[in-house]
Amino acid sequence: MKISRMDLPIKWKLALWYGSILALVLIVFSIWVYIYFRNSLEHSIDMKLKSIADVLSSSIVDTNAPTIFGNFERYLENVFGRKPKGKFIQILDASGKIGAKMSDLETQTLPAVSYRSLEKAFSGEISYETIGEKGNRLRIITLPIKENGKVVSIVQVGTSLEEFDESLTKLMMVMLISIPTTLFLTLIGGYFLAKKSLKPVDQIRKAAIKISSSNLEERIDVGGRRDELGKLAETFNEMIDRLRESFQRINQFSTDVSHELKTPLAILKGETEVALRKERDKEEYKRILKSNLEEINRMTKIIDDLLFLSKAENKNMPIAKEPVILQDLLTDICLDMKMYAQQKGVELEIGNLDDICVEGDELKLRRMFINIIENGIKYTNPGGTVEIRSSVEDGYARIDIKDTGIGISENDIKYIFDRFYRADKSRKRETGVGLGLSISKWIAEAHNGKIEVKSTPHKGSVFSVKLPILSGQKGGS
Ligand SMILES: Nc1ncnc2c1ncn2[C@@H]1O[C@H](COP(=O)(O)OP(=O)(O)O)[C@@H](O)[C@H]1O
Ligand SMILES: [Mg+2]
Repeated sequence: MKISRMDLPIKWKLALWYGSILALVLIVFSIWVYIYFRNSLEHSIDMKLKSIADVLSSSIVDTNAPTIFGNFERYLENVFGRKPKGKFIQILDASGKIGAKMSDLETQTLPAVSYRSLEKAFSGEISYETIGEKGNRLRIITLPIKENGKVVSIVQVGTSLEEFDESLTKLMMVMLISIPTTLFLTLIGGYFLAKKSLKPVDQIRKAAIKISSSNLEERIDVGGRRDELGKLAETFNEMIDRLRESFQRINQFSTDVSHELKTPLAILKGETEVALRKERDKEEYKRILKSNLEEINRMTKIIDDLLFLSKAENKNMPIAKEPVILQDLLTDICLDMKMYAQQKGVELEIGNLDDICVEGDELKLRRMFINIIENGIKYTNPGGTVEIRSSVEDGYARIDIKDTGIGISENDIKYIFDRFYRADKSRKRETGVGLGLSISKWIAEAHNGKIEVKSTPHKGSVFSVKLPILSGQKGGS
């Protein structure tokens, strides 16, 4: 398997980055130090040579040549106080011949001075040059001595560059050893630092491997750190929380669905089995089939509602956008519900209905209002009333469905819009399955509206639906 740059672990990448940057800095810095050191050393050597040459040149001008050349070493001792150490000095006459010479250098054979620097000296210029082989190099100054503007003789002072070379070699050695060592240590240190700070990533990875739908209790623990990785772990934990919640909801939902379908199926099965046990007359069969049909209708309704909610949740529920006249719609629904209300002994009243037009899906709005009005009738004891009225409020159509029914406790009111939620846990057959308000809420929201509830237990409830008024319509009557 080929390892590309992308596969390299981050800890190595980080370490390599540190290393490369440091290497660059160290190398540039070392080159600079080396050059600076070499130049300033060379400069100080040249300055020393120049000062000796200067002293000589001024003393030679004042003295007569033969005395000097007779005993050059004595002369030098007189001028400098002692014999110059580690130096090589010679005086050339105007024709370029060596007049006097002294050497305190370890090597006896002196390399030849270049012709060019002599030439330069004759034309009155001072020059410096480095001659000789490596390990035996000399730095030499060639300085003309002038009298009345004419070059009369030339002074050459040289010094061995052995020490200079040695110092540079030492410096180079220090650099060659310390740079790789530093780099190596940085690489190792960088690797361990990166590894340490990236440890939570590995923890997160391991935790993620362990997590499945069956153990969403698992949490990533990064020991309370608040840096980027701590936050990443926190985000991850929050995501698991949400996943757990939705898994729980799905589980609960499946349980609820099975529960709701089990009862009608059991009734169907029981009745059918009993019916089949012996021969029965026509009327008896009719009664049983009618009872079975009721159960089938009940199941059809549940499945219908579930299908609606599932489509709604998957966002593939089309919503028509037509003008809907609320007054007509509500009157029509009340007419339909009258029979049911009468059966229950509840008075269904139409209060003031403002002339309001909203934009939306008439079928769905009808479904929503039927759900709410039906609830009002269902949860109101005989003798009570359910009243419907509509008005305009803050640019919204407000439809109130008010009953004098059993009301909803503060505990339950938070949940009544949840699927399958019923305040009455006994799951009495005549109450619904608890999907009506979930559907109604979805329909209201799909129309950019909302449903609010106010309720007093044993006194009654008011469900207020708010829907945006069709633009261009003034509203109110
Ligand atoms: N008008 C009301 N008065 C009292 N309780 C109500 C009323 N409307 C709804 N509820 C409570 O809210 C629950 C959920 O309502 P809904 O979703 O329509 O389910 P369902 O009508 O199938 O029971 C009901 O079971 C009931 O407990
Ligand atoms: Mg209902």
